[in-house]
Amino acid sequence: MVCIRQATIDDLLAMQACNLLCLPENYQMKYYFYHILSWPQLLYVAEDYGGKIVGYVLAKMEEESTECHGHITSLAVVRTHRKLGLATKLMTAAQNAMGEVFGAEYVSLHVRRSNRAAFNLYTETLGYKIHDIEAKYYADGEDAYDMRKMLKGKQNHGHGHGHGHGHGHHHHGGGCCGGASVSKRGEGKSAGGE
Ligand SMILES: CC(C)(COP(=O)(O)OP(=O)(O)OC[C@H]1O[C@@H](n2cnc3c(N)ncnc32)[C@H](O)[C@@H]1OP(=O)(O)O)[C@@H](O)C(=O)NCCC(=O)NCCS
Repeated sequence: MVCIRQATIDDLLAMQACNLLCLPENYQMKYYFYHILSWPQLLYVAEDYGGKIVGYVLAKMEEESTECHGHITSLAVVRTHRKLGLATKLMTAAQNAMGEVFGAEYVSLHVRRSNRAAFNLYTETLGYKIHDIEAKYYADGEDAYDMRKMLKGKQNHGHGHGHGHGHGHHHHGGGCCGGASVSKRGEGKSAGGE
């Protein structure tokens, strides 16, 4: 049995170890801290019955963009636990939190052209589309697909009523990416919980 839960500070070393096992794109521990301190709702782990971390998703909100959107920094599941739907669940949890907590309009990510497993996951299972191709994006010269998925419910205002003029978004003032939790807190449907 494997559970998907929001990551804590205590998970970061195990997430980094999983990343080192699974991917050539690796990060210093301070980058994991930056993520969890800035967007704690956007990091999830898959934990097996023995307490071992067997997968993770590391995600963030894009701050330098005019459009409010989330970005998947890194995703991996260890070999022994692949093809069980764990990556799908990790991604879904992060995507839901981006929309519900931060009001993200879409999610972006990069994937190597040669990464069939991840490409299939993103396109077939999760509904991402190719937005662009970034030539030689990776350090070894491989191209990346720049992929995007629109998040549902960003245009309508949520609850059937009050779809009137004047209140454009739930997220007001200083940009939706500026603060966590804004007005969605307390509506009881956050993916991550608190
Ligand atoms: C990509 C990765 C995260 C997928 O994790 P996973 O938990 O096995 O994925 P899921 O079980 O949720 O698979 C969902 C879908 O992804 C696709 N998929 C997953 N593994 C696949 C494979 N080996 N070949 C082809 N398609 C694959 C399938 O469409 C699958 O749906 P299906 O099971 O109905 O066929 C995992 O293979 C991994 O960690 N790879 C190394 C790290 C990596 O590439 N990370 C992504 C970087 S962008």
